[in-house]
Amino acid sequence: MWVKVLDSIPKEGTMVAATLKSVKVFVTMNNGALYAAENRCPHEDIELTLGCLKGNRVKCSLHGYSFDLATGNSSEEDVEAMQTYAVKQENNEIYIEL
Ligand code: FES
Repeated sequence: MWVKVLDSIPKEGTMVAATLKSVKVFVTMNNGALYAAENRCPHEDIELTLGCLKGNRVKCSLHGYSFDLATGNSSEEDVEAMQTYAVKQENNEIYIEL
């Protein structure tokens, strides 16, 4: 089910947090592409928007592990992947598939 998450397109290199149906998510525009993921580090449950973008990854602020924006893959073998979501733009609105 596609759900509207933002009324505008995120600026390049920024992460915008939102809550949808009690799920914390973030949307980012990185190198011209949109990505959406759960706003929760799989390691210790901190919001990933407290971290930063590094290349095509989001880096957690607490221990520095990073997660691929497209696949969610973790930089650490013993940490599960970040939950990612399909994202699309219609006019200036952003939708993700929950
Ligand atoms: S809580 Fe995110 S890397 Fe440890």
